[in-house]
Amino acid sequence: MLTSRLRALLIAGFVLFGAAQAADAVAAMDPAPADWPSFEYNRVPGEFKRNKYGVIDPSPDVVSLQQLPVDSYGFVDWVKAINDGIIDPRESISGNKPKLGPEDSEVFSGDVLIRSKMKFMPDVIFPHSAHTEWLKCSTCHPRIFKKKAGATPITMAGIWKGQFCGRCHDKVAFPTRNCFKCHSVPRESGK
Ligand code: HEC
Ligand code: HEC
Ligand code: HEC
Repeated sequence: MLTSRLRALLIAGFVLFGAAQAADAVAAMDPAPADWPSFEYNRVPGEFKRNKYGVIDPSPDVVSLQQLPVDSYGFVDWVKAINDGIIDPRESISGNKPKLGPEDSEVFSGDVLIRSKMKFMPDVIFPHSAHTEWLKCSTCHPRIFKKKAGATPITMAGIWKGQFCGRCHDKVAFPTRNCFKCHSVPRESGK
């Protein structure tokens, strides 16, 4: 009786101690500028940001990361941020329409199944829609990927060297540590 109560107390103590340590760790982190109490966000949506002299301030707009949704790994979920209307990226840095070639007029938003070469990894789904939200077709076709499912000899080693999906993932798009965000569907059996 006494021992079990003592054990419960000890466990509660450890949990509280752990929680306090985690809170300390968060408090010890330097907040991003957008989270400083003195930070002033004074841009009128749709207009250029101006400094105190009224001159256009070309520095990028700042959104506090704390306001953005995160995925199961704690990385910012940019696709959800767009879909929920939290961010609305411009088409280019200058705000001008980007130059589009004839190959960019095609519309395609389907998912492509890329079969896993190894039994222990699930297959990969490449979602066009999540990409064409930010990128034009000619960013990827035909230089990085052939326009035919299964035609590009993609390897994981290549991705980690910065080829294929690794042109962007691990650099400007979510990191490859999050394996199952790409390897997201069970292997087609018998292959
Ligand atoms: C950005 C998307 C993406 C992420 C993230 C990712 N992979 Fe892959 N991976 C692929 C694609 C595409 C292929 C090529 C098709 C295939 O063979 O599955 C691949 C292939 C593989 C293969 C098959 C063998 C090979 O070399 O091609 C293995 C094993 C693998 N990945 C393991 C992993 C592991 C482990 C992680 C996490 C640490 C990971 N992958 C994260 C996209 C990704
Ligand atoms: C971020 C890179 C990327 C962008 C941007 C992109 N694609 Fe793709 N696309 C791929 C990949 C990866 C594949 C699969 C290639 C493979 O498996 O070898 C693919 C395959 C395709 C296929 C073949 C599908 C099939 O089932 O055979 C078509 C058609 C296609 N893309 C059209 C487009 C069009 C049109 C656009 C612009 C609206 C576009 N893609 C933008 C990466 C991209
Ligand atoms: C030219 C750049 C580029 C290439 C190449 C690229 N991606 Fe992406 N990808 C992005 C960007 C940008 C996003 C959106 C930002 C983010 O999620 O980090 C994204 C998002 C994703 C998502 C998240 C979709 C969602 O709904 O959350 C998946 C899955 C993905 N990519 C898989 C792949 C795979 C698999 C490949 C290779 C076959 C690939 N990507 C190649 C730029 C790229």
